[in-house]
Amino acid sequence: MRETAVTATVNGRPVSFFCDPTTSLLECLRDVVLLKGPKIGCLDGNCGACAVLLDGRLVNSCLVLGVEADGREITTVEGLESWPGLSALRQAFTEEDGLQCGYCTPGIIVAVKALLDRDPDPPAARIRDWLAGNLCRCTGYETIVRAVQSAAATLRESRTSDGEAGA
Ligand code: FES
Ligand code: FES
Repeated sequence: MRETAVTATVNGRPVSFFCDPTTSLLECLRDVVLLKGPKIGCLDGNCGACAVLLDGRLVNSCLVLGVEADGREITTVEGLESWPGLSALRQAFTEEDGLQCGYCTPGIIVAVKALLDRDPDPPAARIRDWLAGNLCRCTGYETIVRAVQSAAATLRESRTSDGEAGA
């Protein structure tokens, strides 16, 4: 099949590539853009391992075509390095034993970023509901929920102290 040119912004950088119109965004990101953060899991939209932000919206990149990314903004877990929540989440997951093998981690982190952008203080029920599409095969979900609440609290505190410092 004839390849199509795609130009997108990936993690803040302009990226251009050619892809078959039937190729998923997940494959394009991993095999062409060479970002291995989005993981290959179920490939049918059920596990969340491949989650990315597309124009700020949480999507499973295995269900999006690469050509659909043309002209749009994509953020993978690699693009969250400058997000203060990332270090808070790393710390919280470590303290709470939130993750073991880490295969699901990139998708969960991207999903949590999308959640905390919308709700900086989500109750446990909302976190569970939001992460229902992110399967973790090796840990208890309770520890993940606790880690997200702990990271959210750290982020809120840092925003408050930043605000006080700037006042
Ligand atoms: S690999 Fe995309 S949802 Fe599982
Ligand atoms: S930590 Fe292993 S699948 Fe989530």
